[in-house]
Amino acid sequence: MCYVTSKRPLNRACHRSRTAVIAAGTVLGLGLSAASLAAEPVRPDLTPKLQGLLKKEMIQIELAMHEIYSAIIQGRHAVVAEKGQAIHDSFILAQSLTDEDRQDLKAAVPPEFLQMDGYLHELSASLAEAGQSRDTARQVALYAHMTESCVACHSAYVTDRFEGLQDAEIPAGWGRAPAEQESGQGD
Ligand code: HEC
Repeated sequence: MCYVTSKRPLNRACHRSRTAVIAAGTVLGLGLSAASLAAEPVRPDLTPKLQGLLKKEMIQIELAMHEIYSAIIQGRHAVVAEKGQAIHDSFILAQSLTDEDRQDLKAAVPPEFLQMDGYLHELSASLAEAGQSRDTARQVALYAHMTESCVACHSAYVTDRFEGLQDAEIPAGWGRAPAEQESGQGD
């Protein structure tokens, strides 16, 4: 399943990315994800406004992640819930973009970028729920998946800034919803 704000080209994109993963696995015999094989840095293609917004969002997300870590290991469930929700709400695609910005973004980045983006969005909502239900084990698991999604996206699309992630071997499942990996079905 694909979780993205846009409905149009995604089904096709899911199948394509799955095919690419299979091709990478069978033809090359390498444990690399499709993203790490095909991806290009996205920043040069973003409008200055989008670049500015994205950067600001990223800094806020990282801050929230630090606070969440601290809250999880100290059992401050309300903070986990609040900050998980804050990541969800402050999310770049969910807010602060005009329709035109949205179109610009979709034109600039590949569908896989938007899928990863959508999955992080979903994980942060689940984390907020795990905070509300005081479920520490689930908080820890979701935090790990969120971290995987940061690394997966950065190692695929932001290597112009994060050179240390350029050669990172990222498991193909990182940053992708489980349903997407197993079935490759669209919604
Ligand atoms: C869908 C892709 C994507 C995901 C997922 C993602 N990022 Fe990013 N991140 C980017 C891009 C693109 C940039 C580069 C922004 C720029 O500098 O223009 C970036 C940059 C950053 C930066 C550097 C900001 C700065 O300029 O100082 C931080 C910090 C960051 N991300 C944190 C995170 C954290 C934490 C997560 C996970 C919880 C995360 N990101 C998930 C795409 C992503």
